[in-house]
Amino acid sequence: MAGFKEQLQHDAAACDAVLRQLIAETKGPANRLLKAMQYAVFNGGKRMRAALVLGASRMARGDDGDAVASKGALRAAAAIECLHAYSLVHDDLPAMDDADMRRGKPSCHKVFGDATAILAGDALQTMAFEILAGAATHNDAAIRIRLVAQLAGASGLAGMAGGQMLDLEAETRPFNLAETSEMQMMKTGALISCAVISGGIVGGADDQLLAAQAAYAKHLGLAFQIADDLLDYDGDSALLGKPAGQDAARGKAGFVALMGGDAAAVEAKRLIDEANDALAPWQGAGEYMQELAIFAITRKT
Ligand code: IPE
Ligand code: IPE
Ligand code: MG
Ligand code: MG
Ligand code: MG
Repeated sequence: MAGFKEQLQHDAAACDAVLRQLIAETKGPANRLLKAMQYAVFNGGKRMRAALVLGASRMARGDDGDAVASKGALRAAAAIECLHAYSLVHDDLPAMDDADMRRGKPSCHKVFGDATAILAGDALQTMAFEILAGAATHNDAAIRIRLVAQLAGASGLAGMAGGQMLDLEAETRPFNLAETSEMQMMKTGALISCAVISGGIVGGADDQLLAAQAAYAKHLGLAFQIADDLLDYDGDSALLGKPAGQDAARGKAGFVALMGGDAAAVEAKRLIDEANDALAPWQGAGEYMQELAIFAITRKT
């Protein structure tokens, strides 16, 4: 396998190329909306969810890390990045986190205004499902429906949107550890789990591998949001591309608020160990996914 960082860059670039092509193929006269969508999608994201799709798919197909990702996995990766980009555009809106900066640049609504940013989020969300439903994603329509159902479930009431609702509710009353962890798993973990499971599905994973990937993803998803909260707590604003300390300023719930930074970091590490244990039986075939899990809690952005 190529080095981890090289493979991650390769996966991110491959996802970007497919996204550019898919956006170029989407025709419509609302040019301002298109510009806002492009601004939100091509804006320096790590593409970690894309890498999870591609890594899980390669693991299922038994390819080594250098293998070119299959077209279906790349489309699934692009779809999840569209959904993720939408979630961030809406997350930054004044009515939600009211965040002016994202990835070192003004947030989408700061450039295009609230109304256009809301529509860009809407259109990115539907674009995600359009990509998954497209015939090029998989020749078996039943697989395409499974991918659509996974993403819908991860994004809606029981997933990201529901988690975002709880996140806002947590600004108004104290959340205990169980409530906080449920909120984190929904708002962030659900889409991360969806990325891993979608990669497994599109790569043809058997039930045993899918179950292991789901266990890995569940722990990773929670650890990822703890790491996000830790970066907000003690990260470097210049590297983050947005001011740190925004969560505390808004009185956001999170593991850091509940247990302090040190204990939250220990919990994130414990979760990543558990995630990686789930893939241990696959030995080298699971290495990239395990590196991704470590990256999730050691990243600086
Ligand atoms: C940030 O996600 C928002 C959360 C769900 C915690 P990422 O840190 O993956 O965002 P980008 O796409 O790399 O900027
Ligand atoms: C975002 O969580 C989760 C989403 C579903 C978008 P945060 O609000 O902590 O993400 P950042 O810190 O703004 O990237
Ligand atoms: Mg938020
Ligand atoms: Mg936010
Ligand atoms: Mg955050």
